[in-house]
Amino acid sequence: MRMLMPASSRTARVFLLSLLSFFVLVVLAAGQTQQVADKSAQSTSRPPASGPASEGPKGVSQYVGAETCKTCHEDLYNAWEKTPHWKTTLNKEGGPSHQGCEGCHGPGADHVAGGGDKTKIFTFKDASRQETSARCLSCHGEGHEQSHFAESAHASSDVGCLDCHSPHHAREEQHLLAEKQPQLCYGCHTAAKADFAKPYHHRVNEGLVQCNDCHNPHGTATIRQVRALPSGDAVCYKCHVDKQGPFVYEHVPVKTEGCGSCHTPHGSTNPRLLKVSLVNMLCLQCHTFPTPGPSGPAHNQSAKYQACTMCHTQIHGSNFSNVFFK
Ligand code: HEC
Ligand code: HEC
Ligand code: HEC
Ligand code: HEC
Ligand code: HEC
Ligand code: HEC
Ligand code: HEC
Ligand code: HEC
Ligand code: HEC
Ligand code: HEC
Repeated sequence: MRMLMPASSRTARVFLLSLLSFFVLVVLAAGQTQQVADKSAQSTSRPPASGPASEGPKGVSQYVGAETCKTCHEDLYNAWEKTPHWKTTLNKEGGPSHQGCEGCHGPGADHVAGGGDKTKIFTFKDASRQETSARCLSCHGEGHEQSHFAESAHASSDVGCLDCHSPHHAREEQHLLAEKQPQLCYGCHTAAKADFAKPYHHRVNEGLVQCNDCHNPHGTATIRQVRALPSGDAVCYKCHVDKQGPFVYEHVPVKTEGCGSCHTPHGSTNPRLLKVSLVNMLCLQCHTFPTPGPSGPAHNQSAKYQACTMCHTQIHGSNFSNVFFK
């Protein structure tokens, strides 16, 4: 794809290079003259952090194109060219404000004219998280995974895109992550780290399951940033389809209260990720014995009845037994 650089963009590059040398000449020739001082005063009077959608004065483009940036930032350019953001150069509809380096850093003409004046270009490191995230969201907002970001627990706790992503210095190439997973998340979520170290756990550390299988770190419409299936059902069914049914005989809480009424999602000291260590204690939270008299054998508290799921094996629901036997 990259080889298909159209002739027109090569022409543009030559043009821009001459433009660049012109600017450099102006700066050198004019030295400290008033002319230059006026010029910079004029450009700083415009909002310095003009967003990707902003335009220069009518008729004057302030965008110079990524090829110009390359002349001084060659290393960054060469690395950037290997990331998915290189695709922004192909964005014809978005116009120059949505292309190349300037799609993120804003118009660069003044920065170039100033021989690399840092005050004349948007630098992410000096901006608030709200500001930097807004910039990213100008392309990654509506209709994407990130569409709930503004309402997410992350955004409301001042966690921004750049806490997890790094467009230039990603440790993890895939998705430009600032750190590998799950370490990225553990850096802030020590309780989750402790949970996944428990004897019974979803094998996140082993790479079998990922945090984002169950969560969308960009926020969801549901609490705890937990994902739901497109059908609206619990995310757990994505992998545990056999628990979904529908069953002729549903075990009511599975459908009404969800998996979390009996299991912890991350990790547990109890087998089967159960919330309590003894199965009978779990069941007895809802089923009190002796009740007015359960049909069948009287369920006393003798040892015989303690391992409830020895007999009630199909605890998530059954098509054959209304008491969830085999
Ligand atoms: C997707 C948005 C994005 C694009 C596109 C982008 N940058 Fe950046 N740039 C950033 C962010 C964010 C930082 C802050 C450092 C970081 O998080 O990697 C940054 C930092 C920089 C820095 C500071 C030095 C450094 O290494 O961090 C320079 C210089 C720079 N960018 C130049 C460029 C050039 C040149 C291009 C085009 C080849 C470009 N940027 C394209 C987002 C972008
Ligand atoms: C004429 C050479 C030149 C060109 C062309 C140029 N830059 Fe720079 N740029 C520099 C210099 C020099 C610095 C200052 C480096 C320093 O002081 O650490 C700089 C700094 C930056 C920084 C801030 C880095 C920081 O440490 O905060 C960003 C962002 C940046 N350039 C982006 C761009 C982008 C985007 C383009 C293309 C629109 C571009 N540059 C074109 C020379 C240039
Ligand atoms: C708390 C960490 C975190 C934050 C904050 C975060 N991301 Fe992500 N992002 C991730 C992880 C992890 C993935 C990989 C998800 C996967 O593998 O499904 C990802 C994937 C992506 C992707 C590629 C998948 C897709 O949606 O197509 C994009 C684009 C993206 N993030 C953009 C953003 C933007 C823009 C922001 C800020 C508004 C942001 N992210 C904030 C962690 C984060
Ligand atoms: C000018 C538009 C634009 C801006 C601004 C922008 N991006 Fe992107 N981003 C894109 C495009 C286009 C892609 C490639 C999408 C694709 O591959 O389909 C992309 C891809 C990504 C990916 C996915 C990488 C992958 O491997 O799937 C991440 C992560 C991402 N951007 C994060 C960011 C972050 C963080 C910022 C802010 C610093 C940002 N983007 C700003 C347009 C933009
Ligand atoms: C820079 C620190 C930071 C990173 C990195 C981070 N988080 Fe968070 N996360 C927070 C903060 C702060 C909150 C809000 C306070 C809280 O609930 O702990 C939060 C909230 C959450 C919540 C919602 C909790 C709730 O009670 O609603 C989930 C889920 C979550 N993060 C998952 C992740 C995942 C998954 C990752 C890795 C992809 C991740 N986080 C990376 C800081 C971070
Ligand atoms: C198997 C699915 C699943 C995986 C994998 C998963 N989570 Fe969760 N997580 C959940 C569910 C469901 C909740 C909601 C629990 C509740 O509300 O009681 C939750 C809650 C949270 C919370 C809120 C605080 C808490 O403990 O209740 C945070 C923070 C969080 N997860 C972070 C992470 C991180 C970080 C990872 C990866 C290291 C991760 N989760 C992996 C399903 C998962
Ligand atoms: C991305 C796939 C995936 C998702 C989503 C998922 N699980 Fe799992 N789950 C697994 C795998 C794989 C195992 C097998 C455990 C192993 O061998 O590590 C497992 C095992 C379990 C076990 C049995 C653990 C044991 O010790 O035998 C329970 C209980 C469980 N999951 C509950 C849940 C709940 C509740 C949810 C939703 C919050 C959920 N799972 C979401 C993949 C998933
Ligand atoms: C009423 C309590 C309860 C609810 C609700 C519940 N489970 Fe379970 N689950 C159990 C018990 C008890 C066991 C252990 C069964 C055993 O000892 O053989 C178990 C075992 C499991 C196992 C491992 C053994 C197997 O059958 O594969 C998985 C996986 C599992 N549950 C997933 C889920 C999922 C997913 C949900 C939500 C759709 C869910 N559970 C809801 C009580 C429940
Ligand atoms: C969160 C509450 C809850 C837990 C925990 C729970 N159940 Fe239930 N269970 C119910 C409800 C509610 C019904 C439906 C009762 C009805 O329709 O009258 C039910 C129905 C049943 C039935 C069908 C017979 C009947 O009374 O309708 C059996 C058998 C059963 N549960 C066994 C168990 C066993 C064994 C456990 C432990 C592994 C368990 N339950 C854990 C709430 C729970
Ligand atoms: C030795 C096998 C066995 C064990 C162990 C067992 N049950 Fe049962 N349970 C039965 C039989 C048999 C029935 C009656 C089935 C019928 O009526 O067809 C029954 C019925 C039930 C019913 C339905 C009551 C009703 O009113 O119809 C519930 C609820 C129940 N058991 C819960 C439990 C709980 C909770 C435990 C653990 C404390 C448990 N069982 C342990 C064999 C067992």
